[in-house]
Amino acid sequence: MGQTEELKELLRQNGTEIDRTGLEIKKEDDALVLTDGRMTLSCDFTHMIPRIKQGRLQSELIVRAAKIKGIEDDLTAVDATAGFGEDSLLLAAAGFSVILYEYDPVIAALLRDGLRRAADIPELSEAVGRMKLREENSITAIQKMNEPPDVIYLDPMFPERQKSGLIKKKFQLLQQLERPCEDEGALVRAAYDAGPRKIVIKRPLKAASLADIKPSYSIKGKSIRYDCIVIPR
Ligand SMILES: C[S@@+](CC[C@H](N)C(=O)[O-])C[C@H]1O[C@@H](n2cnc3c(N)ncnc32)[C@H](O)[C@@H]1O
Repeated sequence: MGQTEELKELLRQNGTEIDRTGLEIKKEDDALVLTDGRMTLSCDFTHMIPRIKQGRLQSELIVRAAKIKGIEDDLTAVDATAGFGEDSLLLAAAGFSVILYEYDPVIAALLRDGLRRAADIPELSEAVGRMKLREENSITAIQKMNEPPDVIYLDPMFPERQKSGLIKKKFQLLQQLERPCEDEGALVRAAYDAGPRKIVIKRPLKAASLADIKPSYSIKGKSIRYDCIVIPR
C-alpha cells in the first residue's frame, strides 16, 4: 500500500470523512504502519505470546466464554468484528479455526500484514495458521454462509473506547478509522439466523446487552464481560 493519496482513496471508498486523512500508511522495515506523523501503529501479535501459552490460555475469559460443552475438536468460529485480531488469536490458540471479518480496508490491510509477519514467528505460527481474514461486511457474509460455525463472536465498538483517555495513545490512531458497527441489531440477527451453537458478545461490564437480547449467561472480568447466548441445535 502506498502513501497518503492511496490512503485517502481507501478512506473515500469506505465513506470516511476528510478529517481522518491526516493519517498515512507506509512500510517501515518489514511492517505496514499507520502514522499521523508523530505516532505509528502496526498490527503486531508478539505482545500476545505470553497470553497464548498453555496454562495461561485457558484462563482467558474469551476462551472460557467460547467453550462448547462436550466438544473439543475441530471447533470453528467466526469473528464478525476482527479489528486487530487479538481476540481471534486467543480463540485460534485454543484450537478454533477462525474466519475473521473486517470491513475497514485500512484496518484489514494492517491486520493482513500483522498475520503475515506472525506466520513466521514460531510461537504464533500454529495459531495464525488457523486464522483466515476476509475483508468484507460480516452481516452480509454471515447471511450467505452455508455451514454455521460453532461460535460467532461479536465485539462491536464500545462507546467507552471512544474516550481517548481510556486507551493507549497509539490506539487513538486506530480509533480515527474504526467505525462502530452501523447496525448492531442486524449483526446479532444475522448471527442468530446462521444457527451457531453459541454467540459470544464482548460488552463493557455495566453496559446493556447488545440489541437487548438476554444472554444465557455472562462471564465477567474487571471492566468487560462476555455475554454468551447458547442456541440449542
Ligand atoms: C472493537 S473492534 C474489534 C477488536 C477485536 N476484537 C480485537 O481483538 O482486536 C471492532 C472492529 O469491527 C469492525 N467492524 C464493525 N462492524 C463490522 C461488520 N459489520 N463487518 C466487518 N467488520 C466490522 C470495525 O471496523 C472494527 O475494526
